[in-house]
Amino acid sequence: MKKQKIEGWLWQEFDELQSTNDKAKELVEQGDNDELWVVTAKRQTAGRGRLGRAWQGFEGNLFMSLAMPADWANLNIYVFISSLTLFNIINKLKSNINVKLELKWPNDVLLNGAKISGILLEKAARDYLIVGVGVNVKASPQPGETPYQTTNLAACGFDIDRLELLRYYLAEWNHNLEIWKQQGAAVIKDMWLKNAKGLNEEISVSLGKRIENGIFVGVDDNGALLLKQGENVMKILAGDIWFNED
Ligand code: BTN
Repeated sequence: MKKQKIEGWLWQEFDELQSTNDKAKELVEQGDNDELWVVTAKRQTAGRGRLGRAWQGFEGNLFMSLAMPADWANLNIYVFISSLTLFNIINKLKSNINVKLELKWPNDVLLNGAKISGILLEKAARDYLIVGVGVNVKASPQPGETPYQTTNLAACGFDIDRLELLRYYLAEWNHNLEIWKQQGAAVIKDMWLKNAKGLNEEISVSLGKRIENGIFVGVDDNGALLLKQGENVMKILAGDIWFNED
C-alpha cells in the first residue's frame, strides 16, 4: 500500500479492494481528526453503483473514493461538483479531440452520448461524506452489459493515465469547492445546468417499475430533477433518465 499527500489529500493506493468506498469508510471510522482522505485501487472486485447496480473493475480504470467532513445541508452541491469536476478536466484535455461532452442528471459525464464515469455518494461515520468515482480510462463494459451505453477515454482519443486523472480531479475538486464557498451554490448549479444534456427537452425518467415522461425544466435547490408534465412540475430525487435518441 502506497501512502502520500497530494493536493492536500492523504492518498492511499491499494493493489486490490472490493470497493474503495468501503475502505474510505473504514479510514474515517478509525480516524480521529478532520483529515481529507482519498483511496484508490488498481483493481476493484465488488464495486457498487447507483440504484443497487454493480460497477465493473477493469484494470487501468480509475476507482477512487474521496472522504471529507461535509456540510450535509448542502448535499446536492457535492453531487453537482462531483460530476462538474470531471467534466471540467475532460473539457480542458479535449482541445484537439472532436467529442461531445455533456453532463447527465444526477451526476454522470457523457462522451458522445455514452457514460464515461459513475459517481456514488455515501454517508460515513463522523458526518463524513464519501464521493466514490469510477472513470472508464482504458476500458468499458461491452454493449448490452449495462442498461446504458458506455465508452472510455482511450477509445475517444484521450491519452491519460488513471493517476494523472486522480491528481487533476483532486485539484479541480478543491477549486470548485472554493468557488462554492466564495461565490455561492447558484454559481455551481448554473455551471452544471449550462452543460446538462436534455435541458428543456422531452425526456423519460425510470423510477424503478414506473416511467414518467415530461420536459426536463431544471433542478431545484435540493438537486431534484424538475419534470414538467402539462401544468404540473414533478420533483424527482432518484431515478434514471433517458433521452429521445437513447
Ligand atoms: C454509478 O452507478 O454510476 C456509480 C458508480 C460508482 C463507482 C465507483 S468506483 C469507485 C467507488 N467504489 C465503489 O464501490 N463505487 C464507486
